[in-house]
Amino acid sequence: MKDLHRDPDSPGTGNETRLPADTILASSTDPRGIIRYANPQFCEIAELSLDEMVGAPHRIVRHRDMPKGLFYLLWDRLKRGLPVCAYIKNRTASDGVYWVFATITSTSDGFLSVRIRPNAPFFETIRTVYRDLRAQEQAGRSPEQSARALTEALADLGFADYDAFMQAALAEECRLRTSAAEIGNCCLPRLADLSALLASAEERADTVGRDFVKVRSEPVNMRILAGRLEGASGALGTISQNYDIMAAEMQHLVQKLRCRDAGALGRMRMALDRGRFQAQVALLMNQAAEQPDFDGATQLADQAERLMADSKASLAEISAAARSIPDICRQLRHRINGLNVVKLLCRVESGRMQNADTGLNGIIERLENFHAATETNLAALSTKADQIKANSMLF
Ligand SMILES: Cc1cc2nc3c(=O)[nH]c(=O)nc-3n(C[C@H](O)[C@H](O)[C@H](O)COP(=O)(O)O)c2cc1C
Repeated sequence: MKDLHRDPDSPGTGNETRLPADTILASSTDPRGIIRYANPQFCEIAELSLDEMVGAPHRIVRHRDMPKGLFYLLWDRLKRGLPVCAYIKNRTASDGVYWVFATITSTSDGFLSVRIRPNAPFFETIRTVYRDLRAQEQAGRSPEQSARALTEALADLGFADYDAFMQAALAEECRLRTSAAEIGNCCLPRLADLSALLASAEERADTVGRDFVKVRSEPVNMRILAGRLEGASGALGTISQNYDIMAAEMQHLVQKLRCRDAGALGRMRMALDRGRFQAQVALLMNQAAEQPDFDGATQLADQAERLMADSKASLAEISAAARSIPDICRQLRHRINGLNVVKLLCRVESGRMQNADTGLNGIIERLENFHAATETNLAALSTKADQIKANSMLF
């Protein structure tokens, strides 16, 4: 009986049990984390009866090696109504251990969690991070400081914040455990397509932004030139001023596209990440609900349904934000037309100075290249935005 919950191919070493690949441990709690339900798989691996579980705080399965900082962060998020995913080492009643990748979400009257076997490379990484955190805690670091150190350690690993880490980890854990057939039946492949479309739109906008930074110095070049060239200085100085003003307006519009929190593409990325996360958690909850002999199956299925509705709402945000992009691109193109006039004036000045090697031709050429490339990139960005809008309305 005891070995039923061990992975037959790789049962784990020593007192460590490795969960079978398809097992999901589920539990629900009240708002303080007091257990209301636990599925038979969870009871079995924890070596506790349902009676022992129900009414106990979740710390009944807590392992002493776990850093307090992780639980500080976990409760901080839950209290703010945010979901949380975490790699957790739990203990069994006979002091055995098993690792899980846990996902916890809020319900109307508490919390619901599903735990799967960790498989992704993130798992190894996080074990090292936890070991360091625990050592620092033993040396006197507070749980709050330790939680901060955890996000800093994740930032060093390239994750902007804990959300970025847990979204990446959940995506990878889901990908590794979900069969091709199950994936085919859910919206995740379409979300992945949407993510790829958005990535190419982001790339176009980044290219516009980067090219733009390059030509931003041209008005300065013009002014330097104006200072050097007697007679032409008045005209070139004015031209450079005009270019500067229009370029500043363009920069503002580029920000409207690319700013991480407020820009249209930034909002779309956040909505997509959130929508994908919600759909992945819903998938896990549905899988858990399908396991036999579990009183809480209905609650899990209801929660999955709610999360799918939230996911659809997130995707509706994407199509709303996508709608604004062609208009921003139009405004940018309009500014480029204005810059074309400036470029033309440059040409006239260059013509007036005929054979003089002024450096103006180089500036004109760079502006021409920038205008042509930006036209192409903005047209492509508009098309991508339309595709994203159409795709995000399919859910
Ligand atoms: C729904 C839910 C599930 C939880 N699952 C676990 C778990 O599997 N293992 C664990 O150690 N803590 C889990 N916790 C966190 C515990 O409530 C608790 O914070 C943790 O065990 C550390 O104990 P302490 O806060 O008393 O130090 C869970 C909390 C909630 C709300």
